[in-house]
Amino acid sequence: MDLVEVQFAQAGKTVFVQPGTTLLAAAGMAGVDWATGCTRGMCGTDAVRLAADGDALEPPADHERGTLARMGVEAGCRLLCSARVRRGRVQVLGDALAD
Ligand code: FES
Repeated sequence: MDLVEVQFAQAGKTVFVQPGTTLLAAAGMAGVDWATGCTRGMCGTDAVRLAADGDALEPPADHERGTLARMGVEAGCRLLCSARVRRGRVQVLGDALAD
């Protein structure tokens, strides 16, 4: 099984993780601290902007989709605690609510 490359742009750190790993777990493996709250896809504290291949992430579950819609963040943003990698490369660009 091919590992998935996850880059944390602001921290300048990259890890290679198993498919199915959440971005939050990848951050932990990379030694990147990220503010979180519920860790269940409900609070939106960890919404991030991403650059990723089209199928690099598993599609969001209903609860994640609902939280992102409620927050009104731009399309393509995901929650670190809920987004799971699938293949290829994902680049976490930064907080979804930052300028
Ligand atoms: S920590 Fe609450 S949505 Fe991810």
